[in-house]
Amino acid sequence: MRALLCKAFGPPETLVVEDLPSPTPGADEVVVTVKVAGVNFPDTLTIQNKYQFKPKLPFSPGQDIAGVIKEAGPGVSGFKVGDRVIANLTHGGFREEVAVQTSRLVPMPGGLDYENAASFCLPYTTSYHALKDCANLQQGESLLVLGASGGAGLAAVELGKLMGARVIACASTAEKLEVCRRYGADEVINYETEDMRGRMKELVGEKGVDVTYDPVGGKYSEPALRSMARKGRYLVVGFAAGPIPSFALNLILLKCCAVIGVRRGEFRLYEREVYDSNMRQLMDWIVAEKLRPLISARYSLERGAEAINALMTRQVMGKVVIVM
Ligand SMILES: NC(=O)c1ccc[n+]([C@@H]2O[C@H](COP(=O)([O-])OP(=O)(O)OC[C@H]3O[C@@H](n4cnc5c(N)ncnc54)[C@H](OP(=O)(O)O)[C@@H]3O)[C@@H](O)[C@H]2O)c1
Repeated sequence: MRALLCKAFGPPETLVVEDLPSPTPGADEVVVTVKVAGVNFPDTLTIQNKYQFKPKLPFSPGQDIAGVIKEAGPGVSGFKVGDRVIANLTHGGFREEVAVQTSRLVPMPGGLDYENAASFCLPYTTSYHALKDCANLQQGESLLVLGASGGAGLAAVELGKLMGARVIACASTAEKLEVCRRYGADEVINYETEDMRGRMKELVGEKGVDVTYDPVGGKYSEPALRSMARKGRYLVVGFAAGPIPSFALNLILLKCCAVIGVRRGEFRLYEREVYDSNMRQLMDWIVAEKLRPLISARYSLERGAEAINALMTRQVMGKVVIVM
């Protein structure tokens, strides 16, 4: 069984593909034959030892997988050999077979294919949790999405539209903004070439924007915070740009807005019933084609490092996947 391995922390080009023995499932674990794995921004951080979760070397990156149960360990109930499953891991997905705790598995609905199943979990569960549970986004409200053509961002655009919001999408190129429009954005801003604050004033006036979804950070966050409405909700999701912005607290006072941290992993841990219900809703929407996760490129396991590099160099729109 082949695995993409991080043997020393570093950039994607330090990853190697090696043959390893098949894993053996422990108690309450199954071995999943991975069909497709989704690539997410945290994979770029884990391999560089920059993520909050730090696996022991050597390890395979990869948080989102879809596949088939090959073997079940002692005490497994609710799942059996041959079941099609989705698993969300801390790491370990970029390999042909992986041992997974059953608590991390979700049965894959019949109408879902492996590529969609492997690519929606992290971005869509994050964005849905952020918009529904953290921001309580209401129909008719305005929603500003930064990094709107990325994995998490495009999910927020699509979900925001489905939830009845007026969606304003920010991205760095005309091609990316065109994708945002296709996925439901009502207005678009190129935040590299346009004056974001000025454009926001044109689009939402003095009232400001009700909800901001920020997975990017860096220089983009302050003009977004300055554009908030009274009683607005600013969702802190991630820092893909690198620098973590700091704000003067008076800005938040003046705006009378809330700044809310979003952590999907903690949500899954502490509010499992709501998480599972969100997951079921998202899968229903995908099967009904109300959501259409964008898969813009497919890589083999041998080219897995290129897939991770594509995220780090802002080349990706929607998702990229590794097809085993
Ligand atoms: N809080 C949570 O629970 C949670 C869950 C999932 C992900 N996240 C975080 O959310 C962020 C986005 O994740 P993702 O999987 O959506 O990533 P992604 O697909 O790579 O999207 C990130 C977007 O950020 C923008 N960006 C700006 N500067 C960048 C830079 N220097 N390098 C890379 N991208 C840059 C890019 O759009 P433009 O080129 O248009 O600017 C890109 O589309 C990450 O920080 C991730 O860790 C958090």
